[in-house]
Amino acid sequence: MADPILTLSGITKTFPGVIALDKVSFDVRPGEVHALVGENGAGKSTLMKVLAGLYHPDAGAIIYQGQPVQIDNPLAAREKGILLIHQELSLSPELSVAENIYLGAWPTNALGVLNKRKLRRDAQAALDAMGCSFGPDDRVGTLSVAMQQMVEIARSQAFSANVVIFDEPTASLTDTEKDQLFTTIRGLQRQGVGIVYISHKMDEIFELTDRITVLRDGQVQGTVTTKETDATAVTRMMIGRTLEAYFHKADSTFRDEVLRVEGLSLKGQFGDVSFSVRQGEVLGFYGLVGAGRSEVVETLFGIRKADRGTLRWQGAEIPLPTPRQAIDLGMALVPESRKEQGLVLMMGGMENTTLPHLASYARRTVMDRGKERATFDEYKDALSIKTTGPEQPVSTLSGGNQQKFVLAKWLCAGPKLIILDEPTRGIDVGSKSAIHTLIANLAERGLAVIVISSEMPEVLGVSHRVLAMAEGRLVGEFEGEEMTEENLIDAVSHHLARPAAE
Ligand SMILES: Nc1ncnc2c1ncn2[C@@H]1O[C@H](COP(=O)(O)OP(=O)(O)OP(=O)(O)O)[C@@H](O)[C@H]1O
Ligand SMILES: [Mg+2]
Repeated sequence: MADPILTLSGITKTFPGVIALDKVSFDVRPGEVHALVGENGAGKSTLMKVLAGLYHPDAGAIIYQGQPVQIDNPLAAREKGILLIHQELSLSPELSVAENIYLGAWPTNALGVLNKRKLRRDAQAALDAMGCSFGPDDRVGTLSVAMQQMVEIARSQAFSANVVIFDEPTASLTDTEKDQLFTTIRGLQRQGVGIVYISHKMDEIFELTDRITVLRDGQVQGTVTTKETDATAVTRMMIGRTLEAYFHKADSTFRDEVLRVEGLSLKGQFGDVSFSVRQGEVLGFYGLVGAGRSEVVETLFGIRKADRGTLRWQGAEIPLPTPRQAIDLGMALVPESRKEQGLVLMMGGMENTTLPHLASYARRTVMDRGKERATFDEYKDALSIKTTGPEQPVSTLSGGNQQKFVLAKWLCAGPKLIILDEPTRGIDVGSKSAIHTLIANLAERGLAVIVISSEMPEVLGVSHRVLAMAEGRLVGEFEGEEMTEENLIDAVSHHLARPAAE
């Protein structure tokens, strides 16, 4: 077996109050895909940021191509051939593709003037090597998420990368885009590139990777050969126990209708969407990424303006609300993407949770800190949020733990209807089942719940009824026995096989 191209040995990194990495050893061989897994906050992103020169370890060594090295900053890492594709994309949207590929390393002539021709030509070559359909002059802001990710990956060609690290790369990709990404990764693999692949999706890990290293609380639990293990064993290494019943469906009685939507339409996005949801009911929306599910719920919530449609709220017809009115009615929308979901990054988790509801924590004009703290503790436990305390700025939490605070913030408002858009994206398997249980508890307490998910087992597992959506249309409704993977796939693919509806 080939010698490792990169070895980390005894890497330790602490932040105030946390040992993020505790003597971590890890290696990558040329041409392998090495999965790095662990719960939210286990230290995966931190380890990779050490490799990419974003963090400097407190102790430990990095051996690269047989030599001990020090990686001072991200550009130095790239120039050495170590490339990190971030958990949250980090390109400059106003710059061109070529400028982004070579960001920080633009070619200049002897006088220090930017050599635009060389920049374009080199970028074009990198894009060609990746089979990209866009050009070096396109502005990055106009590209889809998947294309932006390709721009980041194109750096692997531009800088002749030997090691490429993917931090949860499929979180916002459609299935087709995911397949394309896997093809790209396999191509890099054939070039002899060593690949680190961070993901919470077990199916991807078993499809793609050769070895798996498990981190728990900053320590390596072990490295195993993918072929010689299975998802249950890996999960047990991650969370220290076996997960029993993965899904928990609410055992609730449906009572009054909370919301009824008739003929909701938004040109170019979706058309003629009608459905209703009752107290105690979990209604699932299944569809591929891009089917229009998020657009529908954003319209209900007033973020987008519908062209047509009527709304009944608790039995009475009302005008389509603004977001403020929606909140006042008792709607909550937990959106899918962390970046725009309104966490105040510099503030602590406690304030982020209670901020939108300050009035209920004030006694006359004085804040009731005790009550605020009790709420924080309640959600920290219910969602197993990993934080050093109520004051830790959410900017320093791991991606998955930030996600959990967004959920906490909305739950805390005591809504009548809660809409969860991809509630477990980026959440580790252990916390996932905690969130599924929480969804069931909400319904059992009499809330109406709408869950949007692209994960079929999830949507079938938590919902009482599932609507299937494709290309902006409702294409099926399933309940009880009819709620099967086969029926959902049929509904969606039947529709896609037909010429697009106007
Ligand atoms: N800049 C920072 N300051 C303080 N603490 C930090 C900082 N960066 C990371 N941490 C802490 O280090 C720990 C590991 O975080 P990390 O982001 O590596 O987790 P992760 O395994 O990538 O999780 P996820 O699956 O949620 O992305 C967490 O407790 C996090 O809060
Ligand atoms: Mg992470």
